[in-house]
Amino acid sequence: MVNRVPPAPPEDSGRALDALLDAGIVWGDSSQWLPRLPANSVDLFFMSPPYADARSYSRISPDRYVDWFVPFAEAMLDAVSETGSFVLNIKNRVAKSGPLKGQRHPYVYQLVLALQDMGWRWNETYIWRKPNAIPGRFGPRTKDAFEYVYHFTRAPSPYFDLDAVRTPYKTAPAEIARRNLDGNGRRNTEAGFGRDRSRTYRNGGADPGNVITVGQTYNQHKGPAGLHTAVMPEGLAAFFVKAACPPDGVVVDPFAGSGTTVVVARRHGRRSGGIELHDQYATVARDRLANDQTQEELGLLFAAH
Ligand SMILES: C[S@@+](CC[C@H](N)C(=O)[O-])C[C@H]1O[C@@H](n2cnc3c(N)ncnc32)[C@H](O)[C@@H]1O
Repeated sequence: MVNRVPPAPPEDSGRALDALLDAGIVWGDSSQWLPRLPANSVDLFFMSPPYADARSYSRISPDRYVDWFVPFAEAMLDAVSETGSFVLNIKNRVAKSGPLKGQRHPYVYQLVLALQDMGWRWNETYIWRKPNAIPGRFGPRTKDAFEYVYHFTRAPSPYFDLDAVRTPYKTAPAEIARRNLDGNGRRNTEAGFGRDRSRTYRNGGADPGNVITVGQTYNQHKGPAGLHTAVMPEGLAAFFVKAACPPDGVVVDPFAGSGTTVVVARRHGRRSGGIELHDQYATVARDRLANDQTQEELGLLFAAH
């Protein structure tokens, strides 16, 4: 891959945000763009950055991953809205060298603690479960079938719309009807435990829980994302866009790759922009976004929520 130096963002912070949201995808370096975003301007930063030691576009050693990531996180904390969020998809590695060779490297946990220390509130840890994780040779362990998704917030009361991500109830309709008529919902066991379940089925759907099951996207070379090799499934982005960004809010992905976050956020009616360091990927992402808008015009896409 040829690495050329991307253009710098506009000097003026208001213009930088407008330029990003207008373009959808910019070819740029987030270490330059993020500090240019105005304070209190972004509702959701959603991203899957290069993982430690992973792909040709990365080569960031796990030993220095925290130092590499901290400046991005500081700039995002300055730009996030008062009720805003920063959602980080990241994955463990096995150390390839050094004293931890062959063991799980702790860089993910070190990063989470560093983010918390700098002022990001660690709101939740989600597990992205991949039911179609590919088998391989992983040493004395099973295949990797999950990744982490950490939800950080600026304030104790962030925007969070649980109703937007509820799933259909699994309980039989007759049982739901019976529970809804039950005037005495709480039933203690002999040990004294029990919960009032009379209101459980009045929410329009079940709380999905913090394990999110979405198939990994493996046909990326043929799909809309073209040449990018680490495409995130749209369902993962959709979950957090719907839950953690208000319907009229702004979503920014500083590591845009093939543009999944921006495509999904715009489908759901959010204003959104992504920054991508490599111009080849930025071009792929822009094409994908343009084609998606065409589909939207044809009315082929699902509506918000
Ligand atoms: C794991 S990929 C993101 C994949 C993306 N979520 C998708 O669905 O296609 C990480 C991306 O971050 C980009 N990147 C790395 N450093 C960057 C920087 N400083 N500024 C902007 N993009 C960067 C890489 O080129 C790579 O495309």
